[in-house]
Amino acid sequence: MNTTTALEVRRLSPALGAEIRGVDLREALSDAVFEQILKAWHAHQVILLRDQDLSEDQQWAFGTRFGPLAGGHNRQLEASREGIAYVSNVRKDGKPIGILPDGEMQFHSDQSYREQPSQGSMLHAITVPGAGGNTVFADCYAAYETLPAEVQRRILGLQALHVYDYSLNPTQRGGRDVAADVPRHVQPMVRVHPVTRRKALYVSRLMTAHVVGLPDAESEALLSMLFDHVEQPRFIYSHAWRKGDVLMWDNRCVLHARTDFDPRETRLMRRITLKGEPVLAA
Ligand SMILES: [Fe+2]
Repeated sequence: MNTTTALEVRRLSPALGAEIRGVDLREALSDAVFEQILKAWHAHQVILLRDQDLSEDQQWAFGTRFGPLAGGHNRQLEASREGIAYVSNVRKDGKPIGILPDGEMQFHSDQSYREQPSQGSMLHAITVPGAGGNTVFADCYAAYETLPAEVQRRILGLQALHVYDYSLNPTQRGGRDVAADVPRHVQPMVRVHPVTRRKALYVSRLMTAHVVGLPDAESEALLSMLFDHVEQPRFIYSHAWRKGDVLMWDNRCVLHARTDFDPRETRLMRRITLKGEPVLAA
């Protein structure tokens, strides 16, 4: 395509997200086109490109334009490259071939329990269930900006412990009583996005266990108020998947969750996780 042509960018919801049209991700993108995609990602927090049909190599080529990929525990035999994984409920010999196979998952930001959490994640829908299995996004900028001023002041100075045990049910919060080898990290409750410089709330129902320095009851009261606040419908975009969707979210300013789906249906996504970066405290 002509590199001077402006891409068509359409909002996906009043809250967040945008669909980008007119790009075939199988082709090598010019720097000018990629710049527009990157700008849309930073502006809308979640971007969607429909009707794509990418091989592992093509998805890898697009993903690495955003930055290096994360290695680590997601590596699987089925994926040829580090940083690529399959999210799937497909089973071979009774064992899921992918990570995070079934059902509902509570709101979280990927790898928030690491010192340097992933900056963003991308899913490419290969097989989708007839209904459900939506990925639901919450806008953490708007969540922070709409808190009462006294709550903003209070949480700006606070940190919280993030922990998650993948062997637990993904509808349960990571507690403080998980095994000692489960990864955990203390994070600021409000972070600054390194590109947009906007402040974002950085706690999640699935992974934030405790506010540092607060008694249990006070910590629980503050966290549940913040979880309920960020999960309000006005901050949410719920993505109903279509085969061929490529969707990318920014872990620095959105939370995501998954709705339940019929376990008899197949859901297969190819996932890319971008490498981590230090969290900037607000
Ligand atoms: Fe996730």
